[in-house]
Amino acid sequence: MQTVTLIPGDGIGPEITNAVTTILEKAGAQIEWDVQTAGTDVIEAEGSPLPDRVIESIKKNKVALKAPVTTPIGKGFRSVNVALRKSLDLYSNLRPCKNIEGIKTRYDNVDLVIVRENTEDLYAGIERQVDEDTAESIKIITRKASIRIAEFAFDYAVKNNRKLVTVVTKANICKLSDGLFLNCAREVAQKYPQIQFKEILVDNLCMQLVQNPEQFDVLVLPNLYGDIVSDLCAGLVGGLGVAQGANIGLNAAVFEPVHGSAPDIKGQNKANPTALLLSAIEMLKYIEQRDIAEKIEKALFKTIKDGKSLTCDLGGKSTTTEFMNAIIENL
Ligand code: NAI
Repeated sequence: MQTVTLIPGDGIGPEITNAVTTILEKAGAQIEWDVQTAGTDVIEAEGSPLPDRVIESIKKNKVALKAPVTTPIGKGFRSVNVALRKSLDLYSNLRPCKNIEGIKTRYDNVDLVIVRENTEDLYAGIERQVDEDTAESIKIITRKASIRIAEFAFDYAVKNNRKLVTVVTKANICKLSDGLFLNCAREVAQKYPQIQFKEILVDNLCMQLVQNPEQFDVLVLPNLYGDIVSDLCAGLVGGLGVAQGANIGLNAAVFEPVHGSAPDIKGQNKANPTALLLSAIEMLKYIEQRDIAEKIEKALFKTIKDGKSLTCDLGGKSTTTEFMNAIIENL
């Protein structure tokens, strides 16, 4: 039995969390949830959308499943998501993108994984106004962060039976910064002779992804290119409702959907729990409960392929509960 921090979030968070934890329980996942509330609902009582107890719980349990949390606008609170990544040093953003039969897209065989560096690059936020008409933003790339993200990508490839890692840069232009990132990836690649290694420039990658995305397997990118390319790839496989993600560091991992708290459909039993369920499946693989993960994955894909119990965003008429029950029946 493994203890995992569960953050049900706000907006549609609690509804999709309920569906996902019910499915995991029925599938026989060996998990004890340490439930930690966060977001707008706890601000009044605790003075912050991310109380310290949430961070402490993740530090203790090392793994968390997180539903979306609203970032209040104009009230001076930092985004819960950015705060979590910073305080736990979750240096790797992992986004698997795979076609799901039954969800209509332009391609049939996309099955790739984005590994995005999560801590530096232009996201370091070091900017200054040089004069009235000139602004400057500094791109930081370090050897330490580049080596550890490349190692993460190759380790992921080995553990998940992937064959190819492609490093993505603009090293022909940013010769020092992207050049360093590229050289670190080359160095790490030498330690993994069983994995094929390729290099590509980010502009060429974007064209290739739109024309022939099936050729890619694991992509490793600096922060900014990773951000942009991962949204492009979410679009290739069906968009927000099915886009999962994870933020992983040396001492903790937080699995979460890409979408937000969807306040427009909150409390209506309409939300699609697929992205959170896919995040939970990836979490089960991470904690070595792979058989259960694969069982749920099969049931989810069968339910979507059948097409009889889909939620509105996928063109169906079913409620969150009906979709959940169909998955449970298919387990
Ligand atoms: P959103 O992703 O919540 O919603 C965009 C649109 O997609 C809405 O029409 C919504 O109904 C729909 N949608 C999203 N998830 C869905 C699902 N599972 N099933 C069916 N429809 C779904 O983006 P928005 O409106 O920009 O953000 C709302 C709040 O969420 C904001 O406060 C934002 O800061 C927060 N947010 C939180 C994230 C997180 O906790 N990781 C990530 C992104 C946004």
